Amino acid sequence: MKRFYVTTPIYYVNAAPHIGHAYTTIVADVVNRFYKLIGYETYFLTGTDEHGDKITQAAREAGMEPRAYVDKISQLFRDLWPRLNISNDYFIRTTDESHKRVVQYILQKVYDAGDIYFGSYRGLYCVGCERFYTERELVNGKCPDHDKEPVVREEENYFFRMSKYQDWLVEYIKNHPEFIQPERYRNEVLAFLRDPLEDLCISRPKERLSWGITLPFDDRYVTYVWFDALINYVSALGYPDGDLFKKFWPVANHIIAKDILKPHGIYWPTMLKAAGIEPYQSLHVHGYWKIEEGKMSKSKGTVVRPLDLVNIYGLDAFRYFLLREMVFGLDANFSEEALIQRLNSDLANDLGNLFSRTLAMVQKFCNGRVPSMPEGGEEPTETEIWEQADRTAEEYEKSMREFAFHKALIAIWELINRANKYVDEMAPWELAKDETRRKRLAVVMRTLLEINRMVAVLIAPFMPGTAEEMLIRLGIDKKVLELRWEDARKRLGLKEGYEVEKGKALFPRVNMEEWKKKMEKEQKEDRPVEKVDELISIEEFQRIKLKVATVLEAERVPKSKKLMKLIVDVGGKRQIVAGIAQYYEPEDLVGKQVVIVSNLKPAKLMGIESQGMMLAAESPEGLAMVTCDKPVPAGSEVR
Ligand code: ME8
Repeated sequence: MKRFYVTTPIYYVNAAPHIGHAYTTIVADVVNRFYKLIGYETYFLTGTDEHGDKITQAAREAGMEPRAYVDKISQLFRDLWPRLNISNDYFIRTTDESHKRVVQYILQKVYDAGDIYFGSYRGLYCVGCERFYTERELVNGKCPDHDKEPVVREEENYFFRMSKYQDWLVEYIKNHPEFIQPERYRNEVLAFLRDPLEDLCISRPKERLSWGITLPFDDRYVTYVWFDALINYVSALGYPDGDLFKKFWPVANHIIAKDILKPHGIYWPTMLKAAGIEPYQSLHVHGYWKIEEGKMSKSKGTVVRPLDLVNIYGLDAFRYFLLREMVFGLDANFSEEALIQRLNSDLANDLGNLFSRTLAMVQKFCNGRVPSMPEGGEEPTETEIWEQADRTAEEYEKSMREFAFHKALIAIWELINRANKYVDEMAPWELAKDETRRKRLAVVMRTLLEINRMVAVLIAPFMPGTAEEMLIRLGIDKKVLELRWEDARKRLGLKEGYEVEKGKALFPRVNMEEWKKKMEKEQKEDRPVEKVDELISIEEFQRIKLKVATVLEAERVPKSKKLMKLIVDVGGKRQIVAGIAQYYEPEDLVGKQVVIVSNLKPAKLMGIESQGMMLAAESPEGLAMVTCDKPVPAGSEVR
């Protein structure tokens, strides 16, 4: 029995799922469905990564206990996958007891073998990545992924003797070209391994982080999140004794993006080696979805939510777009406009049109029923079409095995376009007018119906919903996951005389012009219109004296929420009352240089005299003081 085990990364539960998570999981789903189609027994795993600094930090920010927080976010992922038609067999959480037991088992095993030792380490640590960085890996002193300077951390910790396995790993990668794919990422890992590998710090003291799995040999520590997370791929299979482990581990295929290449390409194989487990079969690494040349970022507000797109354009258009647009391994730019273009041209015009015109013609010219194929009715055109169909199937299978999904889709679309051209060349509406050409008409219509069937089977891994809809309407009574390769490859697969269902269009078109207008309108509404102020002359402006004041003392005005009393130096001491108490603490203000209107007539606020007015910018977030960007002598004029 041929087998295939496919995994996605287990996603951090520090934020809701976005298009990047959706992409990897849909790729894994397509692969899983494809291998089932070609007759493999498969197992498909996804899940969530729920321990570590990152998660405790996110829980704190959300004002929740870690447990409640991880339950909530993990649920978002579990709810999303069925809505994207993901066919996973299991969903693992690193907070599952069964997972924790396996992590402890492996830690103990590696410890007993002498590959985990206690030591001290001082280094540069990126909290975002949950790992120490070497100077060489930083870009301008910052973590390349988070654009933040790492912090210096020193700790006594446990270390995994990763360096011991460096030579073995280099040899293994060199001898197994399929181990890390595509080649560029294999080369990247080999390049990294040209320098000596350091041992991996695998613990965190509990006083700093208690949200993790306790080390079985020292309960003052929890394990480092990567050591915990990577093990999910075997714990989910019931390592060490589970049948699933025995069946599927030898055919493990991990899918990840390039951001986590190092843990998967280096930590994981060396961990496996130390634990006495065979390496995984292959690691498949894809690029990043970017939005307008930048990385997707929650803080920049450039996160694309999968369900927003699915709700507007339909699930299969979304799945098709992701797999057709990105060349697996390279980065791709996401744009809604490109999605609409693909939907309109590839799906509505090419595929949707072929299907609906075929069914419309069957209805009109064949009483709505699948005609029988007349014996010996095939002409060279049909022979040529079937030869092309055979080549499509071969090209498709090869590309799918290579993770070149866009190529597999291009091959299918060449066949779709050939079939559309065939309709135009054969003009069945002309054949129908001529009684003597009934046989020819039957050949053409049956050929078209069968090509539609074949296309439906080939697109099934990508667009299971559409495939199912097409097959039902063509009279094939099989669930998509039960389809097998012969269903695509045989020439005559439809039931003669079956009454096909014309139904409605598979993919409604989106009016691009209207969409663009709508976008422009939304953008205009988003952008606040600048207010036109009454103009003053330069002389009038010069009458206002603005000066830099250094804050010497600050205290809240009793019984006032808003007012703060400041003693400032403007070349002489002054008292100013400012309405900033809701936004600043007194100790934040002392020593700051602020800008004041110095020639304002004194006024009393809550009985306290204010000899000037401090300038601040006002926004929905509150007030922000106007300051100078470098120190200047107190009393300097602002012009
Ligand atoms: O790294 N484009 O979790 P994570 C494409 N918990 N794919 C993207 C993407 C983008 N812009 N952004 C994210 C972790 N991804 C660890 C993994 S595994 C043992 C532990 C996808 O939530 C892509 O698959 O940060 C990437 O590798 C993964 O999400 C990172 O997910």
